[in-house]
Amino acid sequence: MLKEINFDFNGADTQYLTHSMHPYPAKFPPQLPKTILEKFAKKGDIVLDPFCGSGTTLVEARLQKINAVGIDVNGLSCLLSEVKATPLTENQISKINQFLNSIQNTSFNWKLGKREQIQVKEIESLAHWFQHNVSEEITFILNEISKLTDEKVKNFLKIVLSSIIVRVSNQDSDTRYAAKNKNIKDCYTLDTFAERLKEYKNRIIEFSQLVNGCTTLNIYNADSRNLDFIEPESVDLIITSPPYANTYDYYLYHKFRKRWLDLDVNFAQYNEIGSRREFSSLKKNPQKWTEDLILCFKEMHKVLKPNSLAFIVIGDSVIAKKIIKIDEIIKDFSNEINFKVCEIISSDLASHSRIFNPVFAQKGKKEHLIVLQKQ
Ligand SMILES: C[S@@+](CC[C@H](N)C(=O)[O-])C[C@H]1O[C@@H](n2cnc3c(N)ncnc32)[C@H](O)[C@@H]1O
Repeated sequence: MLKEINFDFNGADTQYLTHSMHPYPAKFPPQLPKTILEKFAKKGDIVLDPFCGSGTTLVEARLQKINAVGIDVNGLSCLLSEVKATPLTENQISKINQFLNSIQNTSFNWKLGKREQIQVKEIESLAHWFQHNVSEEITFILNEISKLTDEKVKNFLKIVLSSIIVRVSNQDSDTRYAAKNKNIKDCYTLDTFAERLKEYKNRIIEFSQLVNGCTTLNIYNADSRNLDFIEPESVDLIITSPPYANTYDYYLYHKFRKRWLDLDVNFAQYNEIGSRREFSSLKKNPQKWTEDLILCFKEMHKVLKPNSLAFIVIGDSVIAKKIIKIDEIIKDFSNEINFKVCEIISSDLASHSRIFNPVFAQKGKKEHLIVLQKQ
């Protein structure tokens, strides 16, 4: 089934259109859903990604005129997916241009000494992670966004702001949580926001020219262990990548972004499956990982049309110092829940990851593309 398909995307451009918008851990290369959709879906089908993350599958589906459904437990993920996969009208783009002009004018005036005093938004341990001038400028941008009425424009601007939060914070980098003094000058936050806005605007214009409104996009901030809100046997194809167990805490990764944007942190914290919190901090039994996956796979089975396919990218993990060979576990339970295992392609995470991200590299761990068919 997959023999003639080349899944080696090493060196491919993974940043085109809206794909490069906003950092998100462990995205898969857009070429993966693109290739699968080209081969296994047709216009008008419904594709589901129950762990949609940054929306990679959804963006590619819409580009191919395929209806997209995305689910993620993380509210920021849902907002990001929505923005990346939603085309904007010329009218909306002109509202974004007006917003850009007003931010640039504000920066210009503030640099001339007309800086306003801003009542900074209250956020836990703010002073440790953000300089006061930065907090003022972020609050100013948020206040300006709140004055707008078009939800799509507002969401787009929120994602632009969210994308620069770590850069303007005291946090060392997206992956290093230490605070350091970056000595950020006045108006740097406004100027960085304006620069990022220009870039993302061009990306969304390009995307919008390729995607018209003839397909649907539905995104749910929900826990994929229960898909009762999706009609049974309504989905033509699933392309997804569940978390790699004990590797990340997705809910923590965007903590400050979510606080600034008033997005819920607790729902993701308590319902994220496979998190480091569960398996490193709370030291849950590794069997819990299998149980959660079974719940999710049963739900995927329920919403798929008969004989339809699910493409799952997933990696082995280490829990309590033991390697969890996830392909074997999935093979074991798939038959019981009436999924036929059609094919498994595995690559060695220790050397070079073909499908996913070399950051997961560890001796003995593999990453798998597993194809299941509903029986
Ligand atoms: C590997 S990432 C997916 C990345 C995605 N393929 C992309 O390209 O951006 C796994 C995602 O699963 C989500 N997740 C974890 N537990 C979940 C649950 N119970 N229900 C739905 N989503 C969940 C995480 O928030 C994370 O966004």
